[in-house]
Amino acid sequence: MPLRYVLFFFRRTGMEGFSEKAGAIGIFDSGYGGLTVFDKIRRLMPQYDYIYLGDNARAPYGPRSFEVVYRFTRQAVVRLFEEGCQLVILACNTASAKALRSIQQRDLPEWDATRRVLGVIRPTVELMDQLSRTKHVGIVGTVGTVSSGSYQLELAKMFPHIQVTAEACPMWVPLVENNEFASPGADYFVKRHLEHLFAQDDKIDTLILGCTHYPLLLDKIRRYTPDGVTLLPQGECVARSLQDYLHRHPEMDAKLTKEGHCRFLTTEATDKFSEAATLFLSYPVSAEQVIID
Ligand code: DGL
Repeated sequence: MPLRYVLFFFRRTGMEGFSEKAGAIGIFDSGYGGLTVFDKIRRLMPQYDYIYLGDNARAPYGPRSFEVVYRFTRQAVVRLFEEGCQLVILACNTASAKALRSIQQRDLPEWDATRRVLGVIRPTVELMDQLSRTKHVGIVGTVGTVSSGSYQLELAKMFPHIQVTAEACPMWVPLVENNEFASPGADYFVKRHLEHLFAQDDKIDTLILGCTHYPLLLDKIRRYTPDGVTLLPQGECVARSLQDYLHRHPEMDAKLTKEGHCRFLTTEATDKFSEAATLFLSYPVSAEQVIID
């Protein structure tokens, strides 16, 4: 039997032989955006080891279907597990919206019920009641995130008294991925979507930046957001939520290595990744190329 069928069989049956040894924290995004989350997590918890995986060759995920985002995200999680990660953070709203639940409920019990995959939507939503005074909240995100209704559902479950207005911004990720986030073109698209959002509800006092790429557009977002509105990028709240999770789950913490090492994996060319990652992190990184299909 060819080796790939043997490996497939082991994967499907949950006997895939992921190592039991302690490992790094895995952080996944479709591209570079998750680096904004990685950066805050690492600043808060520099003692842990991290493996960042960006599926740059197949980004953006925003316009893709549920089925495709699930398949790609699942492949990335398997890859990070094979690298020894015991815990993976989906630092991508689109993947959190479209793949997290299936991976948690369907795949993990089959693969290894002791591993964990966590997303970015819940830790963001948890803060909304304390941040918003008017109880009118806005969300900007990819088409995939907004049309999945995940934020709207989580908010309705947790804080049914909060009114939510969401705006899909299909050009914002491509502007960031193509290093155009400081250009006049970015002004045009940021202004257009924020005007449209606030025209629908002028009581919004808190705006969730529901895409991990958006912190790079923060200056422009601030420029076109009415005064007094609180902007919520996700890096810090996801980092604090992870720290809290590890305090509450010492059994997981014990399975994480703590030597302060970081690796960066990309499905695209490594020089491209390293160059762009420097913009996100403000320090140079060297990346390794992986194939995850
Ligand atoms: N950073 C991803 C997110 O948070 C971008 C998704 C995409 O690739 O379109 O949604």
